[in-house]
Amino acid sequence: MSLLQVEKMTHYFGGLRAVHNYDIHIEPGQIRGLIGPNGAGKTTIFNLITGIHQPTEGVVSLEGKNLVGLQPYQIASAGLGRTFQNLLLWRHMSVLDHVIMAQYSRMTYGLVGAFFGTAKRKRQETEAEEKAYRLLELVGISGLANQNVLNLPYGDQRRVEMARALAMEPKILFLDEPTAGMNPEELLQMMEIIRQVHKEFGLAILLIEHRLKLVMELCEEIQTLVFGEVIAEGTPEEIQNNPKVIDAYLGKEAID
Ligand SMILES: Nc1ncnc2c1ncn2[C@@H]1O[C@H](COP(=O)(O)OP(=O)(O)O)[C@@H](O)[C@H]1O
Ligand SMILES: [Mg+2]
Repeated sequence: MSLLQVEKMTHYFGGLRAVHNYDIHIEPGQIRGLIGPNGAGKTTIFNLITGIHQPTEGVVSLEGKNLVGLQPYQIASAGLGRTFQNLLLWRHMSVLDHVIMAQYSRMTYGLVGAFFGTAKRKRQETEAEEKAYRLLELVGISGLANQNVLNLPYGDQRRVEMARALAMEPKILFLDEPTAGMNPEELLQMMEIIRQVHKEFGLAILLIEHRLKLVMELCEEIQTLVFGEVIAEGTPEEIQNNPKVIDAYLGKEAID
């Protein structure tokens, strides 16, 4: 049994077949990549697996447990963490609070404790704060803990999203174009963070990335999606030399 199993997953938006017969098996600790031109269906695949949309057909399971039909928060609690292509941060909340909030679903002090400040509540809050700082340290923004997220540059907002996803202690992490909109320096830093996160937590990662070069450097296996179907699958070398992939990217332009 794989950590994540997706079989024959298909989805229609009205008459548009956005994803067709998509399969992936991910083992613990693997870093896998999903590439493809804009509109290929990459984000839709994430949304289907994480419960934002329901697959029209197919099987999705995490550690053998069915995920189809569950709510996004249930899927997150089951161990599937993610970040969003278009950042999904809360206005007027500090960086630190984002990462603390993400841990609350796992806390157990209950409503009475929430009102009357029990010792257990205090301890859990201290632990949550310490853990948040450790994660912010890992993604390199512990110095910005008390800033409002909206005041941060784009690259740092993406780091907040990453720390928040990690705060839920996922078994597998989905990253949807984590370097979109970043400048070259931010991009290199984010790659290093992804490597670090993978190493430190031994986390399985599925990475959507538009830039082939980046995904080639990070991932052990890559799928190429075009019009909702996987047209090529293999190691970075195999993908790089696959004529179908080069065609899909209109020559070598996007590989660099
Ligand atoms: N919520 C939606 N409703 C209708 N069509 C959608 C929706 N989300 C995505 N699509 C369509 O599905 C296709 C795949 O989109 P998407 O998964 O966002 O592609 P990618 O992430 O690979 O760029 C596109 O044609 C897009 O317009
Ligand atoms: Mg997308």
